Amino acid sequence: MNSKGMERYRLHRLFSQEQIASFVQTMADRISKDYDGRELVLVCILKGAFVFLSDLIRYLRIPVQVDFVRLASYRSGMKTCGKIEITKDVEIPLEKKDVLIIEDIIDSGRTLQFLKDRLALLNPLSIKVCALLDKKTRREVEMEADYLGTDVDDLFVVGYGIDFNERYRYLPEIYYVTPIDHPEE
Ligand code: IMP
Ligand code: MG
Repeated sequence: MNSKGMERYRLHRLFSQEQIASFVQTMADRISKDYDGRELVLVCILKGAFVFLSDLIRYLRIPVQVDFVRLASYRSGMKTCGKIEITKDVEIPLEKKDVLIIEDIIDSGRTLQFLKDRLALLNPLSIKVCALLDKKTRREVEMEADYLGTDVDDLFVVGYGIDFNERYRYLPEIYYVTPIDHPEE
């Protein structure tokens, strides 16, 4: 690891590039089969899912359209709080389209609940969720991914597009973070 990632937190590798590629490829295969012959729009949640999306679309074997939303969830560092707002909306008309939301990681489930409810107002044919990671033990509302890379324990993860206060997105692997003065270190 280089010095960019070493200031106050220690990073522990959770998934290698090969493991991530295998998760993404498996999901892409299923999506390609399930949506064959349909009009699929991928709606990527910025910023965390941008790396995942860009790998996923290259494994897909069906034509898709891509759009982006940006949500502000008043999350700072590792803490979350309830209020969610949309700061960049979809631009492609979603009426009568099949929509697949692309998310990096599900935690409380509130972000996806908010977005699914909001996109439903645009009368798509279907709305499903594709998430790379899922921290199921953290759930506060009912939410399940239709396509999931893998479950993860209740850890704070970074890398492969996923940040901690805007840092670590550039890392090609997925890590979990612990404070340097963590008692177990
Ligand atoms: P939820 O609304 O609580 O499900 O939170 C989902 C969002 O929180 C994700 O889109 C991530 O941006 C962020 N998030 C949740 N867990 C982590 C994590 O471990 N690392 C980085 N971001 C996370
Ligand atoms: Mg996110």
